[in-house]
Amino acid sequence: MDFEDIDTIAVLGAGNMGHGITEVAAIAGYDVRMRDIKDEFVEDGYDNIEWSLNKLAERDQLTQDEADAALDRVTPLVDVEEAVSDVDVVIEAVPEKMEIKKDVYTEVEEHAPEDAIFATNTSSLSITELSEVTERPEQFCGMHFFNPPVRMQLVEVISGAHSSDETLDAIGALAEDFDKTPVRVRKDSPGFIVNRILVPLMNEAAWLVHGEEATIAEVDSTTKFDMGLPMGSFELSDQVGNDVGLHVLEYMHEVLGEPYAPCPLLEEKVENEELGKKTGKGFYDYENGGVDIPT
Ligand code: 3HC
Repeated sequence: MDFEDIDTIAVLGAGNMGHGITEVAAIAGYDVRMRDIKDEFVEDGYDNIEWSLNKLAERDQLTQDEADAALDRVTPLVDVEEAVSDVDVVIEAVPEKMEIKKDVYTEVEEHAPEDAIFATNTSSLSITELSEVTERPEQFCGMHFFNPPVRMQLVEVISGAHSSDETLDAIGALAEDFDKTPVRVRKDSPGFIVNRILVPLMNEAAWLVHGEEATIAEVDSTTKFDMGLPMGSFELSDQVGNDVGLHVLEYMHEVLGEPYAPCPLLEEKVENEELGKKTGKGFYDYENGGVDIPT
């Protein structure tokens, strides 16, 4: 499949990343089928896209007509066959668990056109291993967006052991057409480039607080105001989702060893379902429109 042949896209998963990627593709003019396993998940994703498009219009980053037209290009769906049976590219953004993703690819393989490209938004998992559950490993690669996709410029285009140049070129060109900057990642290693650096930073910040060596406010002031990151590391952890960060760390720990052991503070947050902005509470409290800065 060449980039020029891509018109229709399915995005699997309507969570933070799935709905964000759907929005980006719809703004770029593509018809997008956004699929999740329950009506309520798809409805939430759709509402989030609508909120975000209206926000972009309010902030003059789109006209209201452009925002409305983008929303019209989104079809929310639960039925997987309907979602993928006539698309050119499937972008998968389901939870960051190898077994869940493998099950999804096995199901999608049955219904997607033979020439469709499969692109995974995995944050860390092996592209090669995922591609091998399909019958099209050469038409498979990573397409890793950053949160929030509509605001973040970078897309990692990751080569698995079997990805063809044609597939990588098509997905790189698609990312450019989404008005993003693709970076080709040649080695399929856990966390690729960005998360290999960023997730251990968030973990190390948590270890500092866990060991009572610093407070959240002190750590976040340092990362934000001294290291020049746009957010403090705990704010960032809340932004990407503490569950997502933990899943990435668990995989890096399993494959790369002890330096990547997840901090118990992060595990506690996930056990208590304090996942960050998406649940209203994480290291910070986002409920009632307010954000309490922890001491
Ligand atoms: N859609 C539309 N508008 C949005 C939005 C969205 N998704 N998210 C935020 N906004 C709006 C806000 O509501 C706010 O509007 P308001 O002022 O009217 O209330 C406005 O945008 C804020 O915009 P600003 O540009 O003023 O805000 P910032 O300068 O703080 O930028 C940011 C926000 C772009 C999120 C910036 O803080 C940032 O870049 N943070 C770092 C994010 C990052 O590093 N992400 C990558 C994490 S790693 C990852 O995702 C990988 C994964 O695999 C783990």
